[in-house]
Order: sequence, then C-alpha cells, then structure tokens
Amino acid sequence: MPERIRKTVEAVPSASLSIRDITDEARNLADFAAHERIVLGEDRQRGLTAIVAIHSTVLGPALGGTRIWPFPTRGDALTDVLRLSHGMTLKAAISELPLGGGKAVIVADPRTGKTPQMLEAYTEMLATLTESFITAEDVGMTLDDADFLRARTPNVTGTSIGGSGNPSPITAEGVFLGLKTAVQRRFGSDTLDGLRIAVQGLGAVGWSLCEKLHAAGAKLVVTDIDTRRVEAAVTEFGARKTAPDAILTADADVFAPCALGGVLSEQTIPGLKATVVAGSANNQLARPQDAKRLKSRGILYAPDYLINAGGLINVAAELAPGGYDRDAAFAKVREIPVTLTRIFDRAEETGATTGEVARTIAEERIAAALRKRQAAA
Ligand code: NAI
Repeated sequence: MPERIRKTVEAVPSASLSIRDITDEARNLADFAAHERIVLGEDRQRGLTAIVAIHSTVLGPALGGTRIWPFPTRGDALTDVLRLSHGMTLKAAISELPLGGGKAVIVADPRTGKTPQMLEAYTEMLATLTESFITAEDVGMTLDDADFLRARTPNVTGTSIGGSGNPSPITAEGVFLGLKTAVQRRFGSDTLDGLRIAVQGLGAVGWSLCEKLHAAGAKLVVTDIDTRRVEAAVTEFGARKTAPDAILTADADVFAPCALGGVLSEQTIPGLKATVVAGSANNQLARPQDAKRLKSRGILYAPDYLINAGGLINVAAELAPGGYDRDAAFAKVREIPVTLTRIFDRAEETGATTGEVARTIAEERIAAALRKRQAAA
C-alpha cells in the first residue's frame, strides 16, 4: 500500500451505517469473475447504498473510481460494479501499473440524490477499506465530491487536495492518441482532417476529446442525453447533432463511445457505420464475444481499458514514492499508442480479436506476478 494511503484513520462507522461482505452472495453471478471481495454499505438515515468490489490485489491495491448512478435495482448496480472492477484489473495490468482492480457504485441520481450526509456515510465505508481499496472520480462524481471524501479518508485520489486533480483531460489525451493510432491502422494515415467522428456522450472526457478532434480538423457528429451539452457542441465545434439512439448508425468513419458501457452488442453492432471504434467509455462491449462481431464486420476496435487508462495512469502517478509528477503521467500516457500497435500487430498475426489480445497480455502479467509471489512465499 502506498505510503500516503497507509496513514491510519479512525475507521469507526456511525451506528446507522451497515457494512456487509456480500462476496458469497455474488459468487454465482455470471460477472463474478473471481472477485476477491465485495462489500455492501447501507445507511438508510443518510441515504447511502454503495457497493465496493475488489477484483484483484495481485499487482497492488485495488484502485477504481466511484460511480454515482440511479441504477434501477441493486442487482443492476452489482452487475455494473463487478464488470467495471474486473475491467480495472485489466486496465492496470495492461498499463503496467503497480495496482490491482476495484470499483465502487453508489445507487443515487447524481443530480438530485447526492447529499453531504450521504457522502459522509460513504467516507466512513471507505475508511474501513484503506488496506485494499483506493477510489477516485467516475460518472456522477465531481472533483468537489472527491475533495470532500479525501478530507475525511486517505484512500481517495484524483482530488485537488495534494493530488493530481481532475483525471478527465489526461484520459481524453490517451483516447485521442489511441483513436489516432487506430485511424492510422485502418486508413493508412493518422490525419483526422475531414474524418467523420461520432461522439456519444459530451461529459468531462467526451467534451475534452471533441476539443482535440475539432482542433485536428475532424467533422463531429455528437449526442448526449443532456441537450444543453449538444447545443454547446454545435456552437463550439460546428458539430452535427443526432438523437442518442441514432449515434451508432450515424454516417461516420469512427465511433467514439464516451458515455456508459455495453453499447456494442449483438443488437447494435450490425447497424454501425463506422469502421473504427475508439472511445473512453468503460466496458463498451456488452459481452467479450462482441469483439468477434466487430472483427467479422471489419470494424477495428481499440480496447477501451487500454486507451482510456490516462485517468488511472494520472492517479497512479500520485501514489509514486516522489509524489505526483504531471510530466511523468503524460509520458506514460504517450506509451498507449505503442501498446495499441503491439495489440493490432498481434491480432493480425494470430487472427485473434484486439479484445482477446489485450486481455491475454493483461492476464499474462497478472499470472507472472502471482507466480513470483507464490515462489517467494
Ligand atoms: P461524465 O458523467 O462527465 O459524462 C458522461 C456523459 O454521457 C454525460 O454528459 C451524460 O449526459 C452522457 N450520457 C449518459 N447516457 C447517455 C446516452 N445514453 N447517450 C448519450 N449520452 C449519454 O463522465 P466522464 O467522466 O466523461 O466519463 C465518460 C465515460 O468514460 C464513462 O464510461 C467513464 O467510466 C469513462 N471513463 C472516464 C474516465 C475519466 O477520467 N473521467 C477515465 C476512464 C474511463
């Protein structure tokens, strides 16, 4: 555990907060994926329902953002957190970081259901997990929220309190570089000038990505469920707007999913017009086999957890012994195209999908660390 996090905290949760290990209850779920530990925190008085999923601590403490989202049921929240958490393990491993994978979700509408009391209850839950879990921002959690948590418990990164701040711009930088690498592979040139790029989701990362794409001359087609963001993109980038359910079938060369996961599925892949998929959303494939569906349609997929690793690389830099160094974080993000090129090469050589190759590389690294640990024991 990094020195900064190792600081001990008073981990005595209030009486209204119940914290329960639900690992065994989740064991039979399709997305369980051998998670090490899953914890449910509930506080009726303060309006908290949160799940922390720790997938793997083989390479280091599990690090993953906290997503605040109005999941229809607790089962939906659990499925999402398990898939995201597993993805974080792969993301840390493929990015060669000394971190494991985990994730947290809070079941609430981030616009209406986020209260200081609820966040206070959540910090008490986090404070009981300082040995194994470190969190950061995700969908629905702002920099202010992260600062609020960090003021109360040390296992929070990506804050402005002695930290690396908002991870979204560096995430967008990695996605931009990955997208260019995929464009180079598909079209033989990495110029984006005149290329039609469909961006789904104009939030922190999507907007920042649009700025870069626009500056590089791309023609943008955009959507968001928040129409104000869409109108702003039309004004700012001369983007063409489309309805949220029409973005996948929009006439475009590249599709950049930057909203939520699961958008590439048996239902949606047949309608895709783009021949490159490169975006920031986590878990873009509804199922791992959807990588095959993309490949058989001739669509080049840049694995999400590789090209969106900028945010993780940024917070990992915060945990380095010498403290956060922005230049070092950006230098590491600039390695994303190198790894992606290796994945594209290996996929071409072996006939495997880019998703399969990325996963194999990540799992090989974890297996090697496990062997080393077992040999040392
Ligand atoms: P955000 O919450 O700032 O933005 C998400 C945007 O997507 C919002 O504007 C929202 O209105 C929109 N949206 C939601 N559902 C939609 C739909 N059905 N159709 C169109 N738009 C929709 O989140 P952020 O930080 O920009 O993250 C975007 C994605 O990238 C998420 O999947 C996140 O997990 C992933 N990601 C973010 C990182 C970061 O550094 N912020 C790091 C790695 C991954």
